[in-house]
Amino acid sequence: MDSTHQRVGHANQKSLKAGAQMRSFVLKTLALGGALTLSVLPWSVVKANDAALGKEIYQDTCAACHGRDMVSPGLAFDLRKFPLNEFDRFQNAVMNGKPPGMPAWRSQLNAEDIQAIWDYVKTGG
Ligand code: HEC
Repeated sequence: MDSTHQRVGHANQKSLKAGAQMRSFVLKTLALGGALTLSVLPWSVVKANDAALGKEIYQDTCAACHGRDMVSPGLAFDLRKFPLNEFDRFQNAVMNGKPPGMPAWRSQLNAEDIQAIWDYVKTGG
């Protein structure tokens, strides 16, 4: 009788220990998942916002010639075809213009505005 009780007690201790191990595993997984989420989330949120901001600037300043949503009406360069590995060329064209058709924007737009437009250009419109 006594020995049965002991066995039961022992088994309970074991399952308690397993429960504690499980809890610590779950907590560690949650902590790791949380850390991963934190390191990934703000980046994508910032990127999405930059492209959205860039789209606003684009529609206000560039769409008249380059077309709404980057669909060129044929007046100017189709920005959906701009090579995406040539940010320097993009920045230079926007800052300094390309006479006679493309105006210079250095007095209206700063580097961050141009970066935001670039993020929008990279979305393909
Ligand atoms: C007044 C009309 C006009 C506006 C407004 C305008 N562009 Fe242009 N853009 C042009 C024309 C025309 C060209 C073609 C110039 C050429 O290739 O000689 C051009 C060319 C470009 C090019 C290609 C340059 C290259 O290296 O081939 C880029 C990039 C560009 N524009 C970006 C922009 C951005 C970004 C804006 C808004 C901030 C903008 N443009 C506003 C007329 C305009």
